[in-house]
Amino acid sequence: MKTTSFRRQVTSVRASSRTRSQVPLHGNGNAPSNGKKPGVRPQITAWLKRPKHNLIAGQWVPACSGKLFDVLNPADTFLLSRVPDSGREDIDRAVKAARKAFESSPWRRMTPSERGKLLWRVGDLILKNADEFAELESLDNGKPRAVARVADVPLAADLFHYMAGWATKVEGNTIPISVPYAPGARFHAFTLREPAGVVGQIIPWNFPLLMAAWKLGPALTTGNCVVLKPAEQTPLSALRLGEILLEAGVPEGVVNIVTGFGETAGAALAAHPDVDKVAFTGSTEVGRLIVRAAGGNLKKVTLELGGKSPNIVFKDAGDLEATIRGAANAIFFNHGQCCCAGSRLLVEQPIFDKVVEGVAGHAKKIKIGPGLSEDTQMGPLVSEEQLMRVTQFLSQGKADGACYVTGGNRSGDHGYFVQPTVATNVEPKMSIVREEIFGPVVVAEPFSKVEDLVSRANATEYGLAAGIWTQDIGKAHRIAAELRAGTVWINCYNVFDAALPFGGYKQSGWGREMGHEVLEHYTETKAVVIGL
Ligand code: NAI
Ligand code: MG
Repeated sequence: MKTTSFRRQVTSVRASSRTRSQVPLHGNGNAPSNGKKPGVRPQITAWLKRPKHNLIAGQWVPACSGKLFDVLNPADTFLLSRVPDSGREDIDRAVKAARKAFESSPWRRMTPSERGKLLWRVGDLILKNADEFAELESLDNGKPRAVARVADVPLAADLFHYMAGWATKVEGNTIPISVPYAPGARFHAFTLREPAGVVGQIIPWNFPLLMAAWKLGPALTTGNCVVLKPAEQTPLSALRLGEILLEAGVPEGVVNIVTGFGETAGAALAAHPDVDKVAFTGSTEVGRLIVRAAGGNLKKVTLELGGKSPNIVFKDAGDLEATIRGAANAIFFNHGQCCCAGSRLLVEQPIFDKVVEGVAGHAKKIKIGPGLSEDTQMGPLVSEEQLMRVTQFLSQGKADGACYVTGGNRSGDHGYFVQPTVATNVEPKMSIVREEIFGPVVVAEPFSKVEDLVSRANATEYGLAAGIWTQDIGKAHRIAAELRAGTVWINCYNVFDAALPFGGYKQSGWGREMGHEVLEHYTETKAVVIGL
């Protein structure tokens, strides 16, 4: 496979004195493949070989410790690159740079219109480099390049374009006030919407570039300065985005990008006393740690966390083929590594067998392989840790009595591939029904009483998303109103747009991403009162 020569090229990247990878660089290129050879563009190979640094105060600098860690290709576990293994000191330098840029830099003097144009340029530059971004994302995360090219990358560009428009539209109000204890006095009162300040952003690995865009777009359009920490599994597209931001003209210190692990760099950012707000996407478990860490200086917190989303199929769903396709896409898109994955399929009894069979049929047909192979439809999971996590859920499910209509195991023995899986015969208490698996695993349950349906659908600590498939528009609206979820998709699933707010009820998070709602979370409101 071409990947082998690619490995030879990139392993000449200078080794660090210490790496933190748990995974030996032992891949032999035998990841499941469908025959077509993946190719890596020469400019990507060259980019991967260049030493990787943090972006701090407009400069590319190594970690203070000089340490690096390995970034692996999850399709074959070969080394892709090495990036700074940053810690508290690096975060501190980045926060200082952000604070300086926030207090005294061209950024503060920039007009909203100029800021908007700058963000628009970022969107344009992402599109200009779309093929490269898609390839990098595929190598780093494992997702099919073709998917990254039509989904992750254009959505990231669109987010910047959308947010560019808001730069000139974040407004306060004029407010008539009465002040009962000052009879006869007159005032002019209004509000200003000001940037929150220095923002720490910690993002996950499932949509690395897109998550960076979701975080940076609203922060920048409202005039904040940022320290961004990408996930340790997938830091590459954020570093490339850093280059794009500089090319677009983002002033030094406005965006700082620091790579590192969660418990070191991430924890230091969440706890930093000079960070005004932290925005996090990831596990609910770490979300709780972020809240605790933020308590030190009571920084503002927004969280986008896990999910166990119900996807409800009624017997009057209409076009059953389209519904089955939709239900399969709801769970298998991005290998199930979506916080909003439709991982609990609730199907009305009379069509249960047919829907399960249909979704299992789709699962069986999915072509598994390295993301760079043209006909790959599902790549590997992102890491060995995720492979272990997902396969442990599968073993536990089996032990608990679940029946796997299809799948249920790892796929192949190299790379982090898992078979798309459909489970039936499940009980509410089973871990595969209750917990977020974050892999291509759906549990299917029949329902017969519509009266119980809503409480069953809501019987989860999460509340991120839900799906409803029916031709009865009244029923669809009634159920949608009763579901405790931040997004409800009716006769569709996984429909995202920069203009639509996204986020969770219950333990799926605090606040919303995207839309104009997110701007609230990146601004402070200042009330100004003038005695006349
Ligand atoms: P994680 O929550 O540990 O990692 C997400 C981000 O948080 C990464 O950038 C990581 O470096 C950082 N982080 C980790 N520990 C931290 C700490 N103590 N302080 C500050 N930052 C920290 O998620 P992980 O371990 O990669 O995945 C575990 C599970 O989390 C997945 O199986 C999935 O269920 C869930 N998850 C949910 C995501 C979502 O989109 N809501 C995304 C990724 C994971
Ligand atoms: Mg973790």
